[in-house]
Amino acid sequence: MRAMVFDCYGDPDVMSLRDVPVPEPQDGEVLIRVGYAGVNPSDTKVRSGESARYRYREVKFPFVVGRDGAGVVERTGSNVNGFRPGDNVIAWSATDGKTWGSYAEFMRVPVKNLSPMPKSLSFAQAAVVPVASLTAFQALFHAEKGGMIRGQKVLIHGAAGGVGSFAVQFAKSAGLLVAATCGSQNVDYVRSLGADRVIDYKTEDIGRAIRDWSAEGVDVVLDVVGSTTLPHSLDMLRPGGRLVSILTVTADGDIERDRKEAEGRGFRKITVIIDFERARDSMREITNLIDAGLVRVPPIEMLPLEDAARAHQMIESGHVRGKLVLKVADLWFYLGLRQRHMLRAMNANVKLRKSRQLPPETARNVLVIDVGGTHIKVYPMCRREPVKIDSGPAMTPKKMIRAVRTAVEGCRYDVVSLGYPGPVVHGKPIHDPVNLGPGWVGFDFQKAFGRPTQIINDAAMQALGSYRGRSMLFLGLGTGLGSALIVDGVLEPMELAHLPYKDGKTFEAYIGDSALKRRGQKKWTKSVFDVVAKLKNALQADYVVVGGGNARRLTNLPPHTFRGTNENAHKGGVRLWQPEGKRPRATTSHAN
Ligand SMILES: NC(=O)c1ccc[n+]([C@@H]2O[C@H](COP(=O)([O-])OP(=O)(O)OC[C@H]3O[C@@H](n4cnc5c(N)ncnc54)[C@H](OP(=O)(O)O)[C@@H]3O)[C@@H](O)[C@H]2O)c1
Repeated sequence: MRAMVFDCYGDPDVMSLRDVPVPEPQDGEVLIRVGYAGVNPSDTKVRSGESARYRYREVKFPFVVGRDGAGVVERTGSNVNGFRPGDNVIAWSATDGKTWGSYAEFMRVPVKNLSPMPKSLSFAQAAVVPVASLTAFQALFHAEKGGMIRGQKVLIHGAAGGVGSFAVQFAKSAGLLVAATCGSQNVDYVRSLGADRVIDYKTEDIGRAIRDWSAEGVDVVLDVVGSTTLPHSLDMLRPGGRLVSILTVTADGDIERDRKEAEGRGFRKITVIIDFERARDSMREITNLIDAGLVRVPPIEMLPLEDAARAHQMIESGHVRGKLVLKVADLWFYLGLRQRHMLRAMNANVKLRKSRQLPPETARNVLVIDVGGTHIKVYPMCRREPVKIDSGPAMTPKKMIRAVRTAVEGCRYDVVSLGYPGPVVHGKPIHDPVNLGPGWVGFDFQKAFGRPTQIINDAAMQALGSYRGRSMLFLGLGTGLGSALIVDGVLEPMELAHLPYKDGKTFEAYIGDSALKRRGQKKWTKSVFDVVAKLKNALQADYVVVGGGNARRLTNLPPHTFRGTNENAHKGGVRLWQPEGKRPRATTSHAN
């Protein structure tokens, strides 16, 4: 498996991507196929050796960090109840310093460190939930920590970060009054989380702001930043109040002295870490709040696993808003196969045999070509990475064929799938693409390639690769707006982009690339959310997949929506050649 491994403590670049053996789940453990790994400050402290220096956590090398992960149960060790292969789960890694974390394709965790994935979240969102939410939830509500109840007042320091973003929302959902600190750039964000009084620590006097807000002080100060960097929190507490400090390992000052000082003044200072024995129960409550829509997952920034070092540098800057997540693997295709596999096994009333190897997609060697307005992506089976060819208004089919032939020289292919950026009827383009040169309509691609060739609308090809059952609407947020619907395995390419939406303008005019440039990210995102909801309802889709170059500009996704990846175009092209009954059927696209 691929994993971000390091052999000594040090800077972020001590981590390197390597092939290592898949771990074996032991008694009471579960092996998870990881889709996404949430990034936490503690990952950076373990990697740098800070945790070891403070005798908080030492590790046995080689090691893989990553407290948070989301994925699918691959298999279980003995004595595991409640989870089965194929279950979607979130996990928080063991802290014994020997068990590896989530920056790897597989992680093994004790079953008590596992919870069913919140149903309303994507894998990427779910991956950032465990550590930050557990810390915030337990610190506020556990009796021996904050012990907070409805109507009480809390001051939350560090509200824009992972723990703080959850803390503000948990506090509001429990009927608390919330003051929260953050830097000037995050004031609007923290207000959007629901904080009643947002204090800009860069420009305001926090003590005065709290006295103005609540003359008697607050019941609890929740410090997520580190007491050495903050003004004196005890001065802001009401008599009998509590200072709840999350152990940061680096900026905690002299805890014993602070505790004594607090006691001397009639307060309590409590230093907290996650209570893992009660984490499963806490996570059940957190999941309920998320699935009920009362708490949102903070905005996430996604990076590939290869960029783990960059993610660590960002976290170490101390000013990340929301959460960072690493994409480890694409689970969709795997899920589809797994579900089909289980279904077949259940139907035949036989026991599901555990298999490590997925069955091959197709016996044929498919060359997939995804034609776009700015690039043509070519996926020959003999290469791991796609080849990118520059495209544009001068690109004609003849030029495309020449460039593709050069790109795949030396690679064998039996058949060709071509994703075409325009309407395709009965396997033939009926208009030339808007952003490319002329000559596409009527061109004989099969003759030019000398191989059986299937042509399909490019959005439909991505949809085919994204499909994981029931009814799915695919929206391609690129230069224009691509769309396709698959219902119970029947694919219907659509042309929704040019239907009227608002003020006599089309859907594309609101969420196409030109709208993004013209109206700005905020308004564009708002329109995307609205359009997704409208089209999902109108077409009665169970879920929506958003693909295309601009999908990555959405930090959060609308409900029941997943983010597509470029590789889905490749998968779709390969699926086109699967035998009938094993792939979604296209209603209007046939072999040339
Ligand atoms: N012991 C445990 O069990 C445990 C568990 C979870 C977390 N932690 C620790 O808790 C700390 C926070 O974790 P996290 O995941 O929330 O980190 P994070 O996501 O990196 O967030 C840090 C946030 O702190 C804010 N900040 C920096 N200086 C500040 C200041 N002077 N006043 C107010 N806000 C300030 C930043 O916002 P601005 O950009 O607005 O400044 C940033 O968003 C870390 O040290 C972590 O290791 C401990």
